[in-house]
Amino acid sequence: MEVIISQDAKSASDKAARYIADVITRKPDCVLGLATGSTPLHLYNRLVQMHKNDGLDFSKVTTFNLDEYLGLKPEDPQSYHYFMFENLFSKINIDPRNVNIPDGMTDNVMTFCNYYERKIRESGGIDLQILGIGTDGHIGFNEPTSSFASRTRIKTLTRETIQSNARFFGNDESKVPQHVITMGIGTVMDAANILMLAFGKDKANAVAASIEGPVSAFTPASILQMHRHVKFLIDEPAAANLKLSDYYKWVYDRKPEWNRWL
Ligand code: F6R
Repeated sequence: MEVIISQDAKSASDKAARYIADVITRKPDCVLGLATGSTPLHLYNRLVQMHKNDGLDFSKVTTFNLDEYLGLKPEDPQSYHYFMFENLFSKINIDPRNVNIPDGMTDNVMTFCNYYERKIRESGGIDLQILGIGTDGHIGFNEPTSSFASRTRIKTLTRETIQSNARFFGNDESKVPQHVITMGIGTVMDAANILMLAFGKDKANAVAASIEGPVSAFTPASILQMHRHVKFLIDEPAAANLKLSDYYKWVYDRKPEWNRWL
């Protein structure tokens, strides 16, 4: 696990964008796992800029989103479909046929989830998964006590997540769907590489529990300690509760030249 602490969310997101651009340049037909929410917004802006200014080419890239609310149509402004097209897909040259987002309107959740898993497998698997983290330590919408072996399935959100996401629904908790389709923790852990982004003091407890706490289903993101290629790109406020933050900075400052792409 590599923990990279940046001054602010913008510089951490710039590093993430450079990392993703490097993956796409090395493997133009790579498979990316994507997240929504406020965390990746600057990252997606940077990728759009890199596409427009530097010709970063998404034409062969395939994407799989982590999750979607059940019951929201793709054209609903609160849906993750809408979010992804609004913030990224409509602004880059991705082939819409290569975009995969769980179907929140499916009438057969189990069949759809099996299909989603199969499609990820048939694509060759996810080369790089982008994650955000919930204040309760969730990844995707795998809430505390989700099985580490879980695959794509329906989940019921916690009160904490509903309250936290109400900001996207006019601060009206009653409008936040209570059910979602999410990739499982096992699905996420199958990705070859994982980039976790976490910004702001509200994430400090979850970040510390994930990086330095015991591996426990109570903090779903703590399973990332068991992944071979995971990087936490976090800002100073999100790093506030880490015991070893000086060590992480020490390590980063001493990265060998050939490995200093960030
Ligand atoms: C979104 C997702 C969630 C978010 C998390 C943090 O696709 O999978 O795990 O990453 O809830 O949300 P924000 O970024 O809004 O704080």
